[in-house]
Amino acid sequence: MEEKETTATQIIVANNGPLKVKGNLEIQLASGEIVTKEGTTGFCRCGVSENKPFCDGSHRKIEWIG
Ligand code: FES
Repeated sequence: MEEKETTATQIIVANNGPLKVKGNLEIQLASGEIVTKEGTTGFCRCGVSENKPFCDGSHRKIEWIG
């Protein structure tokens, strides 16, 4: 059986945590700056991160549920 190569972007919604996106990313920030990321990148869902749009772990401090 032939294996299919997938190019689908994998996105995981972490329980009470960030949105995890796997892959090579090119992100345009609100400032217009372009940031590149490899591997898994966590995006803040709780709204408390001081490094938005990225998760900085602050959701744990506030015991965010979502
Ligand atoms: S989801 Fe982690 S800091 Fe907001």
